[in-house]
Amino acid sequence: MMEDLKKTFLEEISAVNNLSDLSNLRVKYLGRKGIITDRLKSLSALPHEERPLQGKKINEIKEFIEADLDSKESRLKQEELKKQLLSDSVDVTLSGKFVPFGRQHPINKVLSEITDIFVKMGFSVEEGPEVELDYYNFEALNIPKDHPARDMQDTFYISDDIVLRTHTSPVQVRVMEKRKPPVRFIAPGKVYRCDADITHTPMFHQVEGFMVDKGITFSNLKGVLEAFLHQMFGADTPVRFRPSFFPFTEPSAEVDIGCILCGGAGCRVCKGSGWLEILGAGMVNPKVFEHVGYDPEEYSGFAFGMGVERIAMLKYSIDDIRMFYENDIRFLRQF
Ligand code: DAH
Repeated sequence: MMEDLKKTFLEEISAVNNLSDLSNLRVKYLGRKGIITDRLKSLSALPHEERPLQGKKINEIKEFIEADLDSKESRLKQEELKKQLLSDSVDVTLSGKFVPFGRQHPINKVLSEITDIFVKMGFSVEEGPEVELDYYNFEALNIPKDHPARDMQDTFYISDDIVLRTHTSPVQVRVMEKRKPPVRFIAPGKVYRCDADITHTPMFHQVEGFMVDKGITFSNLKGVLEAFLHQMFGADTPVRFRPSFFPFTEPSAEVDIGCILCGGAGCRVCKGSGWLEILGAGMVNPKVFEHVGYDPEEYSGFAFGMGVERIAMLKYSIDDIRMFYENDIRFLRQF
């Protein structure tokens, strides 16, 4: 009878192949109302002298069943773990998914190059609004009402006294209003002019430079700009200053570098002159100081401004400014 029980159990356990069936089988044999428990209870119905032997046999089979259930349980757990590890595994031999790389826009690239050079020379970086008051864009920079730059054909007017800034020079005035000298900063940013052809877009970028302290002279301006241009275009690049006019500087200059395309021999880009115009600059006009309450007897300074697109076009030999803003991926991938 005990042998039958063992046989049935062995048949049943061999049919089990998962942990939940195994747990049901354990309950069926060893649970509170299980077969073995029943047998042990029924011992009390036996005559006294038979009980020890019967009891021993039932206990033996109970231990056998327990041990068998335990070993099957650990085997099933092993198998399940193995299955899970296999299904979670990564096939490192599969080919990867292509992740397209972004690149810095050539204008931003040149902008950060310019910024890095001036930051190393101790200039801070300032910003001003692109929608600007006429006062900061023109008036405070000594640009009179009848100046051609104020013409509707060049300037985007928002209202009578609000414009899209036509240059970064208004940042000079905004910074001086907030701070006492010494000041030394650059102001990179977007500017707007009503103009469009192969060298002009209605929006473009400028970097303004500005430095005011006691005893600043034109030679400081030359030193700073030469150091900048030599880092930007190469240490051997010739630099030349030409007299010019800007309402907010006096004296004013235009700064040229030797043509980086033909080496000064004369080509289409430098229009045969061997020189490329790169910057406007000059000593801050005392009239500008008066607008912000700096004493021109005590302080002097220089200012300069450059077009970023123009520098990028020269650096990368790009002959149409519109390339920068057409978002042609074949163009942008080259930088
Ligand atoms: N603001 C001038 C422009 O947009 C550029 C310029 C010239 C800026 C001379 C300066 C400067 O600070 O001194 O044409």
